Amino acid sequence: PLIDLIFNAGETEVELAKQLGIERTIIVPGNADLQDRVYQELGEALSSALDLLLPLGHSIVTILGGDVIAKSARFLSKSLGNNRQLEFVPGRGALGENVATQSNTIVQEMAEKTGGTYKTLYLPEQVSEVAYRSLIREDTIADLLQDISQSDAVIHGIGLAQEMAKRRGYGSVELSNLREKKAVTECFGCFFDSNGKIVDRITQVGLQFENLKKIPHIFALSCGAKKAEAIKAYMLNAPRQTWLITDEGASSMILKGK
Ligand code: F6P
Repeated sequence: PLIDLIFNAGETEVELAKQLGIERTIIVPGNADLQDRVYQELGEALSSALDLLLPLGHSIVTILGGDVIAKSARFLSKSLGNNRQLEFVPGRGALGENVATQSNTIVQEMAEKTGGTYKTLYLPEQVSEVAYRSLIREDTIADLLQDISQSDAVIHGIGLAQEMAKRRGYGSVELSNLREKKAVTECFGCFFDSNGKIVDRITQVGLQFENLKKIPHIFALSCGAKKAEAIKAYMLNAPRQTWLITDEGASSMILKGK
């Protein structure tokens, strides 16, 4: 495909994309489980991919949180903002999570790097059904949800189910329920098993997994050999336009387990 030619896709990248059923993968050298420098390469690869795909002029980029995106954010290039008015918005509420890895913090950093603007969403990550229904009618929140639904791109991580459930304050009973349901990965508040079935989910204000497919460009950042199973499971349901930006640690495990 044309996109591979423009972006110089390597053979392994093409093979990995084919196996995962998505448009494109970018594999950076190393294994994030052992080497921190992977995040720089990941951030730079993300920056080039955004530069290739984002239209000029005004663009909305929705950011989910997590460790990998937080560590890669500062490697976005200043030139990404040339001839673009980039607006970064958080994909969901995230209070309760570590401030450094919250989408609210990451959008500020990305906007600063690229000379863009940002909006914040200071809401708990998990809310009750009743709160959800009234919150989404608040003007500022409805406004942000509108921006999210019109985003040109979404950037998200892919988490390990147990780790993410712990980060979200699940108790021991909930954790063992999740284990029984064989959840291996979490994305957009949905827990998936290794067959890609949603086995549990958190009610959260923000981008809903079901609406992701309408977004033109999606970047999944996930790396390290220990994420291989989680990446594989999530990709069974990922919209085809997803670009996976990963490292050799994860990609060689995925390709080996073919
Ligand atoms: O919090 C947003 C998110 O994208 C989650 O949906 C996902 O599970 C997590 O980040 C991944 O975080 P990390 O990069 O820390 O594994």
